[in-house]
Amino acid sequence: MKRGSKLAITTVVLTIMVGVTVALAATGNLALLIPFRDPSGTVRTVASAGDPVPNSAFFQSLGSNGRTCGSCHQASDAWTVTPAHIQERFEATGGLDPIFRTNDGANCPSADVHTVNARRDAYSMLLGKGLIRVSRGVPANAEFSVAAIDDPHNCPETTPAGLALFRRPLPASNLRFLTTVMWDGRESFPGQTLQFDLTDQAAGATTGHAQAAQRPTDAQLAEIVNFELQLSTAQSFDQGSYSTRRVEQYRWPGQAVISNVPGLLEYR
Ligand code: HEC
Repeated sequence: MKRGSKLAITTVVLTIMVGVTVALAATGNLALLIPFRDPSGTVRTVASAGDPVPNSAFFQSLGSNGRTCGSCHQASDAWTVTPAHIQERFEATGGLDPIFRTNDGANCPSADVHTVNARRDAYSMLLGKGLIRVSRGVPANAEFSVAAIDDPHNCPETTPAGLALFRRPLPASNLRFLTTVMWDGRESFPGQTLQFDLTDQAAGATTGHAQAAQRPTDAQLAEIVNFELQLSTAQSFDQGSYSTRRVEQYRWPGQAVISNVPGLLEYR
């Protein structure tokens, strides 16, 4: 091979590697590669299908407000979000990080968010408790009705047809074991597969949380669902026990078996 073409190939390979590294760092995918500290030790994620797609649609902004699925489902927080890290994001951006959006991040969608102090008040449920405002009416088959609303946030948008249900983001990991999707099971459809349910969920999350004007493409939805379905997350070290191995066996007995499956990659 001529020296010139070798050089060209090396340059191409290097360019691809640099490109991939930059893409990973920019989107937070790199977070999957490392263990994260939590209050009692270390939490880790393994992915069953090898390397995650760089810049997976899960980490892409597919809507109009800058949010991605990763805005509320972070590897460092076992694929949910925690108040401590939400507060760090607030301080780093003056409350402008995409998680801070009034549609469902604020205590009330019409809250004033013009100044940093106003934003601190407007997002107090998210900052203090990691809660997202899910607006739902009373289900048609409910065995109760709403007699009165006593709202500490005095929010005009909180009505019997659009109650304010404050909910933590459920982890977007270990999804293969789900029997119902969402706190109230509203994304579980009779007779449908989990893949179908999660596809509908991802479409709804994009038009809802990310305020997209239209549903993502089938290819984007498949990429999101395939990505999240291959994640398994568990506590891999706990300060209160004797050793990592012991913790893995004690905390989640399946873990030791899972990591011996040929072809399954554990990120270190
Ligand atoms: C603004 C924050 C936010 C964003 C952005 C977000 N989610 Fe969520 N996610 C939540 C909340 C809150 C819940 C629980 C809502 C409920 O049960 O009513 C949830 C629930 C889920 C669940 C259900 C898990 C279970 O155990 O039932 C999955 C899966 C999920 N989200 C995936 C996604 C995907 C995929 C995206 C991107 C397309 C996304 N989320 C974007 C906040 C968010």
